[in-house]
Amino acid sequence: RYPVICIDGPSGAGKGTVTWRLAQALGYQLLDSGALYRIVGLKAFEAGLITADASKVIDEMAVLQLTQSLDIAFVPNNESGRVDIIVNDEAVGEQVRNETIGGYASQVAVYPKVRNALLTLQQDMATRSGLVADGRDMGTVVFPNADVKVFLTASAEARAKRRVTQLMEAGQVADFEEILTTIKARDDRDENRTTAPSKPADDALVLDSSMLDANAVYEQIKKHCQN
Ligand code: CDP
Repeated sequence: RYPVICIDGPSGAGKGTVTWRLAQALGYQLLDSGALYRIVGLKAFEAGLITADASKVIDEMAVLQLTQSLDIAFVPNNESGRVDIIVNDEAVGEQVRNETIGGYASQVAVYPKVRNALLTLQQDMATRSGLVADGRDMGTVVFPNADVKVFLTASAEARAKRRVTQLMEAGQVADFEEILTTIKARDDRDENRTTAPSKPADDALVLDSSMLDANAVYEQIKKHCQN
């Protein structure tokens, strides 16, 4: 069996950068599990199965069927430092990474049938090569026997500040209070759902990145992997 490294934690804690760097350094595949939920969320929104304000009662079977109809693959992209997402042989644009779609993702992520439909796909990735898995339930549900588990977190304020900087660097307008509110709403939904709530595995290293830059986070996790 191949080694699995799980990096879980809330939005904006810095998982994306560190999982990419680890995967590159070790020659492992990268599982961006959030991207799976984002794609399902986007498709569910396009199909009218969810609404932006999360007010609609979701038809779980319909979202399940939609999930099962998707063939999702990841291709590393050295320029963006992330994986490109291919759905049914078509590349999905970077817009899938925005906060609106993050909200759709967390709506569909509440549903056990949806999570279950994505489970085998995620576990299969670890049967082909070493894996760095980025998500909320990698260490608790998807890979309970993983070799390394880290829960990377930071204060909501620190995470919102990072998002503002990222958006401004991308030439977009960003309002701190608005971003803080959406981050807290998503944390709340992710931490309080019944199935696979976002939380550290019992055997995870919990690392608070509020006062650490990306390099320091990478170095600490790398050191932890070597132990
Ligand atoms: O990049 P960011 O942390 O903002 O989000 P993401 O990792 O792409 O995840 C988007 C949403 O998908 C999360 O807010 C969760 O609701 C859901 N998700 C999940 O339930 N389980 C995972 N393993 C990964 C993501």
